[in-house]
Amino acid sequence: MMSALAEKPRRANMCLVLGIESSCDETAASVLRLEGGHPQVLSSVIASQDEKHAPFGGVVPEIAARAHMEKIETVTKRAMQAANVQYCDLDAIAATAGPGLIGGVITGLQYGKGLALSLGRPLLAINHLEGHALSPRLSDECPFPYLLLLVSGGHTQLLAIMGLGDYRRLGSTIDDAAGEAFDKTAKIMGLGFPGGPALERLAKAGDPNSVALPCPLRGKPNADFSFAGLKTAAARAFAALGEAPSQQAKADLAASFQHTVAAVLHERSGRAFDMFDRLVADSVPKRFVVAGGVAANQSIRESLMSLSAQRGYAFSAPPLKYCTDNAAMIALAGAEHFADGRTDTLAARARPRWPLDGESAAKAPKSGSGKKGPKS
Ligand code: KG4
Ligand code: ZN
Repeated sequence: MMSALAEKPRRANMCLVLGIESSCDETAASVLRLEGGHPQVLSSVIASQDEKHAPFGGVVPEIAARAHMEKIETVTKRAMQAANVQYCDLDAIAATAGPGLIGGVITGLQYGKGLALSLGRPLLAINHLEGHALSPRLSDECPFPYLLLLVSGGHTQLLAIMGLGDYRRLGSTIDDAAGEAFDKTAKIMGLGFPGGPALERLAKAGDPNSVALPCPLRGKPNADFSFAGLKTAAARAFAALGEAPSQQAKADLAASFQHTVAAVLHERSGRAFDMFDRLVADSVPKRFVVAGGVAANQSIRESLMSLSAQRGYAFSAPPLKYCTDNAAMIALAGAEHFADGRTDTLAARARPRWPLDGESAAKAPKSGSGKKGPKS
């Protein structure tokens, strides 16, 4: 079987790629066709593990790894069926190879390698952050270069996306990610897991100006972020509400917290606009893109959209289904690299840490650099 399929000719202008994502708590598979540079998502299947982690108020790596192993095959088969394609039609297999929880990353990557080997198709080992970085191209005309705010549970970064594989970090969090701050604040307030969407729902009934919270790093001349102090201030404000806070008091705190995160993202991103303006010629049309799970937050989106308009940039944010973790973005990153002539070998390794902009992260790690390399 392998030799017959391996002879399938490579098509330059069109490719069909299966993407696999398993770096955190979503097991996902997607089939995507890239034709003349235009992606078409034929299927995108996501099995969420939220229910399994909810009793613990956060993702438990051991439970996540086990759940990925249980689901990966079914999810992949469902993606293939929904796309109505045969395995022999695929040109390449793209799997997330990091960064993320290593048990899950290994499960998805090994499964991808197994498929690549048995089908005689190339493997693409994809950086999860690159998936998020390219995700706006799934739904929008989004030509390079663009300024990207990647804002998720594990990452908060501003990057200049100059072209495929050319990503320059302009700023990064020095402690917690914005999504992590949402999740931890929601946990303290007893809102359940995942915290971001729950906190946004509660905030709808609250007054965003009722609780004064700090805006860390405001006015600093770089484009870095910090959320640890804000998270601690929100925890103190919640404790000050006493044993049995009213629903209105909780909603006011949630709205104030969300408003402050939006203000921090707005102010820090403003610095990155200045840097991007210096990096890219005036004649090039400018675009600001927001991606990652926190980009699902409506009031954060609106605040960033107005900043973008003030600065004369076009604005893109992927639809919600492509903001949070999904495999369509991994399939897209794989397809774009495959169309560009890249393939990886089966020796590609799973990496718990893998900065998107390896060079500047190695020179100036923002949040620690252990034996396994810089975190961000
Ligand atoms: O991109 P993602 O699915 O996974 C990572 O790679 O981290 O992002 C998940 C994060 C979680 O922290 C979640 O609470 C946050 O995105 N999130 C939100 C909202 N929806 C998801 N944060 C604020 N408001 C939301 N509506
Ligand atoms: Zn993610």
